[in-house]
Amino acid sequence: MTAQEILNKAKSEGYALGAFNAGDLEIVKGVVQAGVELKSPLIVEASPGEIKFFGHKNFDCVIENFKKEMGFPILTNLDHSLGLEEAQEGIESGFDLIHFDGSSLPYEENVKITKVIVEQAHEKGILVEGEVDKILGESIPHREEAESIQASGSYTDPEKAADFVNQTGVDILAVFIGNLHGTYPQPPKLDLERLKLIAEKLPCFLSLHGGSGLLEEDIKQAIAIGKVVKINVNTELRVAYRETLENVLKGSEEVAIYRIMPPVIAAVQKVVEGKIQLFGSAGKAVIPSEESTTTQL
Ligand code: 13P
Repeated sequence: MTAQEILNKAKSEGYALGAFNAGDLEIVKGVVQAGVELKSPLIVEASPGEIKFFGHKNFDCVIENFKKEMGFPILTNLDHSLGLEEAQEGIESGFDLIHFDGSSLPYEENVKITKVIVEQAHEKGILVEGEVDKILGESIPHREEAESIQASGSYTDPEKAADFVNQTGVDILAVFIGNLHGTYPQPPKLDLERLKLIAEKLPCFLSLHGGSGLLEEDIKQAIAIGKVVKINVNTELRVAYRETLENVLKGSEEVAIYRIMPPVIAAVQKVVEGKIQLFGSAGKAVIPSEESTTTQL
């Protein structure tokens, strides 16, 4: 199935795919194992910082290997590429989805660059996600309250968003409705009424960034509105990784990495499994080998 078909299926069946940030092989293993365990389609993504650390080619090869080994639907996404060149590198290296985040640029500049990326990506069957109003925060645990950060941004305006989508032809729009990157002392509250208005106006899919630390009920309602098919999750994976690694190393003399990392991978897997259940994508993977078995029967 193509990326478009995978997202169409999510939209028509009312669930969202988790897009999980992976900065190293261990996180990829945790994410993939969760997907296989729960038969959920997956998006594995990397931000510019993560892909620089991982290496574009390494990331692609690792995902390709898992896809072959597991026979499993995994889409890849370049998360928050910030410039034309960075996005073009992503197109060249064969990501299934490219998120171009031009939200820090003047509006017309954002439209212009996004349009070029859409044209080049579509030639290769790659989908593009755009961003107009900046999704604030960083993928770390924050001490300050979400409200003060939310108040410093401007929420996605449905009219402006519709103009952006019509002019650029993006396949997905990343909305800012109070969702913030990172976790906060209290979960950021989402403006679901605004999400409804955006969903009514826009012809494209929507994505929800900042999938860590949100209220489960807000996430369920956001998906139920009907256009959100991609929910990004990073901070909760990072925290599970680090806390588990610290615990494993505490008081231990172990030096063999293959004995140190399995609990870390298992902790990442557990977080991902929770998100898959919450997003409703468990059991939704169409696995080619099973498809052909069904056809033979
Ligand atoms: P969190 O770090 O809040 O999970 O957000 C991740 C994200 O949106 C990546 O683009």
